Amino acid sequence: PAILMVNGPNLGILGRREPEVYGTATLFDIEQAIEKELAERGWDLVSVQRESEGELIKSIQEHYYTVGAIVNPGALMINGWGLRDALASYPRPWIEVHLSNVWAREQFRHESVLAPLANGVIVGMGALGYPLAARALLNMTPAAV
Ligand code: DQA
Repeated sequence: PAILMVNGPNLGILGRREPEVYGTATLFDIEQAIEKELAERGWDLVSVQRESEGELIKSIQEHYYTVGAIVNPGALMINGWGLRDALASYPRPWIEVHLSNVWAREQFRHESVLAPLANGVIVGMGALGYPLAARALLNMTPAAV
């Protein structure tokens, strides 16, 4: 079994993107932290980062077979209606993650069009939010999968 991680625009440059807001961990560091979390159950990680909504939608369609997903939509949280529709037909639990506490920031980040469909949301925990989301997916999914 595999978990899908989907990161949206500007998240491939984590580590050097506004480190005072998003921290210094890179996407590679985050992938490793998730893989460590998943190792106990022998689950794999499929990690996708794209700058455009269409590519993100395609990656979700192509990975319907995964057992759960971790999604940081970046700024597509604001208006990613196509991404929302793709996630609406994703058949397994998925967790929305934001590194920063979006409610402590600008007004335009206070609502996510995706979050009402998520099984859970982790906000403001920095890079730690990703392995926490992996832990949540492990807990939600019966051992037999
Ligand atoms: C973010 C928060 C979004 O508002 C922003 O557009 C991002 C990153 C986060 O992880 O904190 O790109 O999703």
